[in-house]
Amino acid sequence: MSRLLPDTTPEPEAGTLGAHTRAQLTRLCDVAGLSPTDAETYAHTLVEALGSAAGRSLALPPPTRTFLSDDHTPVEYSLSFSPGRAPALRVLVEPGFGAGSWAENGRIGLEAVRAMARRWDFSTERLDEIEDLFFPARAKGPLALWIALELLPGGVPRMKVYLNPAAKGAKRSAKTVRKALRRLGHRRAFKALPKADGHPFLALDLGRWETPRVKVYARHLDLSAAEAGGLSRTGSGPGPAELQEFFRTTAATDDLDRRPGLSCHAFTETETGRPSGFTLHIPVRDYARDDREVLERSVDVLRSHGMDPDPLVRSLSALTSRRPKDGVGLIAYLALAHQQGHPPRVTAYLSSEAYAVRPPAKLPRRAPAAV
Ligand code: TRP
Repeated sequence: MSRLLPDTTPEPEAGTLGAHTRAQLTRLCDVAGLSPTDAETYAHTLVEALGSAAGRSLALPPPTRTFLSDDHTPVEYSLSFSPGRAPALRVLVEPGFGAGSWAENGRIGLEAVRAMARRWDFSTERLDEIEDLFFPARAKGPLALWIALELLPGGVPRMKVYLNPAAKGAKRSAKTVRKALRRLGHRRAFKALPKADGHPFLALDLGRWETPRVKVYARHLDLSAAEAGGLSRTGSGPGPAELQEFFRTTAATDDLDRRPGLSCHAFTETETGRPSGFTLHIPVRDYARDDREVLERSVDVLRSHGMDPDPLVRSLSALTSRRPKDGVGLIAYLALAHQQGHPPRVTAYLSSEAYAVRPPAKLPRRAPAAV
């Protein structure tokens, strides 16, 4: 929607996806120290991004089985912690949720990106340059476009757009990633990446970033702690020992033999061909009995990095009134992120559970593996 037009998005009624996620986001904004005015702006932005899905009753099943989250809610939150400051709150959303085809889902997603770009006055040029690679007429899944907003104080967020390298077929994913990197000027980037079992996402920073990144996500089947320690190609940031310790503390195992771990490399400059950022994502929800266990590990990992876990503890009550031990999946992933020139970050990805709560697993309760 152009900012020259009056904003006509109605506030969703109680019991709808829009009302549920709007209330969660408003409470999370408070946890992250954002002002009530910013909270109001961002909650409204989320409702707008959901489009017609916002008004859909949660008594109905999800219209499409998005894999953005385990229960198919098209919204996920995250808190990204750095030492000595308030965590950054982000929200991930699928604007095309409920569309009848991947092509239509993508079209709605692109329209949402462009509406936000007009409103906040930033360029979509880098997305335009690679659009044809990710939005073919007969696009394949398992996603078309997701938007993440980093909710900065002041009411103007930073945006990340997540694209599907398999849009032209899973077999062509690697080629699509290589082409996209090349078009964006990163000619040697693909060669710098570690071996992977697929590339689930390519992400672009759009908007007011000091150094906008293009990020390539890689899937690693059966990843061991030792292998995870050797994944980073940045030449700076956490070394193998720190990555292994993060792996073992969060997964409480030496081997991710269920849902795979992911790595992500970020490229910012085109001179060296080297990535400037690296992130290791651990899908903690598949390696724990319940969220009480995941929360304990999260608190340990935050403390060991000199970060205050209090906002994370509070965020869980901002999401739900259920007890952490009565389900698993509120914290979907824990990630350790490094970007050159910045202190390390620990990010917790938080589920909405608008549609369902996963019951506790029948795993034995495990202490973190010795590190
Ligand atoms: N839900 C998907 C998954 O588990 C995609 C996803 C959502 C994801 N948030 C994420 C992947 C954060 C990595 C990190 O893979």
